[in-house]
Amino acid sequence: MESIIITIDGASSTGKSSLAKAIAKHYGFKHIDSGAMYRALTLYAQDHNLLNDHKFDVDTLIDHLPTIDIDFTNADEITLNGKIIEDQVRSMEVSNKVSLVAKEPLFRQFMVAKQRQLGEKGNVVMDGRDIGSVVFPNATIKFFLEASMEVRTNRRYEELIEKGEQVSVEEVHANIAKRDHIDSSRDDSPLIIPENAIVLSNDKEGLTGLFNIATAEIDIHLR
Ligand code: CDP
Repeated sequence: MESIIITIDGASSTGKSSLAKAIAKHYGFKHIDSGAMYRALTLYAQDHNLLNDHKFDVDTLIDHLPTIDIDFTNADEITLNGKIIEDQVRSMEVSNKVSLVAKEPLFRQFMVAKQRQLGEKGNVVMDGRDIGSVVFPNATIKFFLEASMEVRTNRRYEELIEKGEQVSVEEVHANIAKRDHIDSSRDDSPLIIPENAIVLSNDKEGLTGLFNIATAEIDIHLR
């Protein structure tokens, strides 16, 4: 069977990772959450006192890059220098700063190289902002997931509350709106609908509906 790369791009909290996980499980593929990689670098910068509300020491973080290993376990959990950091990377503290890290071209180059290395063996589902447009423009099949601001805010609010974070709906809404702005207006690899992508809406379909549409499309390619 030919090696398959499936990309799912879209804005924050549209349900990309849930759909990617379901597709990866169905076909026995690897799921690579590229957003978790930018979050891991953000966590590293915060833990090393290079990034907080008052400063972002880009140059020192660049100097540290050769010592930073961001990877995934066999169970697709994100690791930073060998340590699983699944829960830490989803915090509001990381969410509040990740787009500042992700807009720096040198950090993007670092991630894109790693993402291509992870994807080159094929049979992967990778989700993010620039996966179908920049990282794998020749992917087997590309999806772009959309959802209304209300659906996105409620999804993320409920996820965070379930994990025990103390957040308000307003705070979550403000974070999503701020990241939308930075991610869509940056010079390097802004969020766009990739060429040839199939656009899906999480407003009309729940996860099961999206999964059924996506797998029907993928099955055509696998035949
Ligand atoms: O979980 P959520 O959908 O809110 O975001 P994420 O996929 O974890 O991505 C976190 C942040 O990483 C985004 O807001 C972008 O700033 C950045 N990102 C990116 O620039 N390129 C990607 N391929 C994936 C994420």
